[in-house]
Amino acid sequence: MPSPTELLRSVFGFDRFRAGQEDIVNAICAGRDTLAIMPTGGGKSLCFQLPALCGDGMTVVISPLIALMREQVRNLRELGVEARALTSGNSGEEAEEVERALADGRVKLLYMAPEQLAKSSTIAWLKRLSVKLIAVDEAHCVSQWGHDFRPDYLRITELRRALDVPVAAFTATADRETRQDIMERLFDGNAQVFLRGFDRPNLHLAFLPKDKPRDQLMRFVMARSGQAGIIYCATRAKTETLSQALNAAGHKSLAYHAGLDPEIRRVAETRFAREDGLIICATVAFGMGVDKPDIRWVAHADLPKNIESYYQEIGRAGRDGDPADTLTLYAMDDIRLRRAQIDEGRGDTARKEADHGRLNALLGLAEARRCRRSVLLGYFDEQCDHCGNCDLCTNPPEVFDGTEVVRKALSAILRTKERFGSGHLIDILRGVKTSKITAQKHDILPTFGVGGDLSKAAWQAVFRQMLGHDLIRPDVTRFGALRLTQAALPVLRDEAGIELRRDTIRSATPDRAPVRAQVSEDDEPLLAALKLKRRELADSLRAPAYVIFSDKVLIQMVADKPADLDDFARLSGVGDKKLAKYGDIFLAVINGAPTERLHPARRKLAGKSGGDLFDLLREAQLELSRGADGSGKLLQCSSALLARVARQKPRDLGALDRIIGEQKTDRFGKTFLEILQDA
Ligand SMILES: Nc1ncnc2c1ncn2[C@@H]1O[C@H](COP(=O)(O)OP(=O)(O)OP(=O)(O)O)[C@@H](O)[C@H]1O
Ligand SMILES: [Mg+2]
Ligand SMILES: [Zn+2]
Repeated sequence: MPSPTELLRSVFGFDRFRAGQEDIVNAICAGRDTLAIMPTGGGKSLCFQLPALCGDGMTVVISPLIALMREQVRNLRELGVEARALTSGNSGEEAEEVERALADGRVKLLYMAPEQLAKSSTIAWLKRLSVKLIAVDEAHCVSQWGHDFRPDYLRITELRRALDVPVAAFTATADRETRQDIMERLFDGNAQVFLRGFDRPNLHLAFLPKDKPRDQLMRFVMARSGQAGIIYCATRAKTETLSQALNAAGHKSLAYHAGLDPEIRRVAETRFAREDGLIICATVAFGMGVDKPDIRWVAHADLPKNIESYYQEIGRAGRDGDPADTLTLYAMDDIRLRRAQIDEGRGDTARKEADHGRLNALLGLAEARRCRRSVLLGYFDEQCDHCGNCDLCTNPPEVFDGTEVVRKALSAILRTKERFGSGHLIDILRGVKTSKITAQKHDILPTFGVGGDLSKAAWQAVFRQMLGHDLIRPDVTRFGALRLTQAALPVLRDEAGIELRRDTIRSATPDRAPVRAQVSEDDEPLLAALKLKRRELADSLRAPAYVIFSDKVLIQMVADKPADLDDFARLSGVGDKKLAKYGDIFLAVINGAPTERLHPARRKLAGKSGGDLFDLLREAQLELSRGADGSGKLLQCSSALLARVARQKPRDLGALDRIIGEQKTDRFGKTFLEILQDA
């Protein structure tokens, strides 16, 4: 039986496990209940797909989204793995095919939506199949504290009891409460936990206060033109206007939100998956199902809902592990909007306060004064000092003691009885005599004009940061008038100071060094040709391009320029199935001509140590085909026979005899054994 490491190579074409994968795979293979928390794109799927392929029995995979499920099944089948999905979306024909495959006992992985468990017959039916493992993807869906609770996930407990097999659960985002909830609901409190940390070191992190946000976004996109990306917007309308603007500027873009016709949404999803360099302007409705590994950037046109959403959304970029960029734009209005959404939302006070806390965490990240990654990871109880891959590490902000300006602002709020928004308050502070000011007699307040030394923009930055530090909050019951929070009192009473960033708007240049090209200029045409071929193959399968090969593999092809199947097999991401299916096709593109046809037995050894052996054995036998003196009877081993020798590597003449027979052993035995010994 092949080991997990062998399967990793032969089925998935990967040379090594990523951090954490091997331990998890081993624990699952040993039959233990496991809960694994790994970052988005960390490679969780592989952790249950590999054990599923080891030995007999079928693995049931519970996954919340049909699109995601179909995608994984298709990828697996492209790798030659017998995977199927059981969803309400299956056509009659599809459902029949799944039934047949199950009846034949061929299926290794059966994906199911949690809704299927609600049918009373499902569990009894599964009991009759030889299920050996239940894998629960996106396990945070079982927790009421998680951000994506799905009641049907609770039925997994019942399934587990009925089948009495181990459970392996996976999630990327789980704070301590959610983790505990998963433990109790799925495992009765008992499972081996693997906490792989949350860091995604290949993601560059950056935030910018809005300042002509359309231009800021356009600059960001322009520097990354031709690369696939997502822009998250707070409103449906914005997804559409922004998408139009991008198209007008010569980019390829589509809008996506829940208000669009399902068919239009489906087309957008498919096009995004299949086409190179498409930009999706979306609300958060475009989300979890996105499994495209080569999204090179994610931008937030508006502040996300909270720190978890932020982490999930940026996490869609760079799942292939290559560098990817993120940019989050935010402004005072965004903070107001998010606070109001929480206050006006459902849920009790405790829930609302928890939500405010999560928003605060995100605002703390936005207004961070040192390495952003250290602040982000800190939220997940992880440490990091200086990541070198965020805007603040490259460009430390200028800070100043903001205690006095903040106190002036707080006092203006108090003296106007917490009844006004920032615009009017800034007018008071700067001493601007508007009609509203005179009407309210605010020009006779002691705070009138005490902040005339700061520009309007500078005051806006102060108010934004005060909101960010949660010193003040908009009051939804009073049209967003600002009021003080408990956190403001120490500053007001001179018991605590506060450090602010110098207006970041002024020094705002979002772009670091120009985005690197994927390959050198000379190699561009080759990469384009490979992409074209990939597109053609993908279209014939009606599948996204990366189902054939990811960009990463194509870039490797360009860099390594494999000359033959052996070289090709060594590329990371090329497993046996894909080597056999696509090796020749892509080699022809790279080398401009069809490559040497290999005997099928030899093809199977491509890229393996047996491949070199085979070639040596064949050479030796050619030389000896008429005996050492060249006058003997013509004798040859077939390619299939040589392949067997190369695979089995017999150590002595007896063993060799059993493979190629006495006559040939007499002729080639000594030489073959010498070659085998050196190997
Ligand atoms: N050992 C490995 N070597 C190279 N690439 C890998 C390895 N394991 C996984 N990958 C690749 O990493 C990418 C992300 O994997 P996967 O979809 O399993 O992530 P995930 O952890 O489930 O993320 P999410 O939380 O977003 O669902 C895939 O393209 C996968 O092929
Ligand atoms: Mg996943
Ligand atoms: Zn950093």
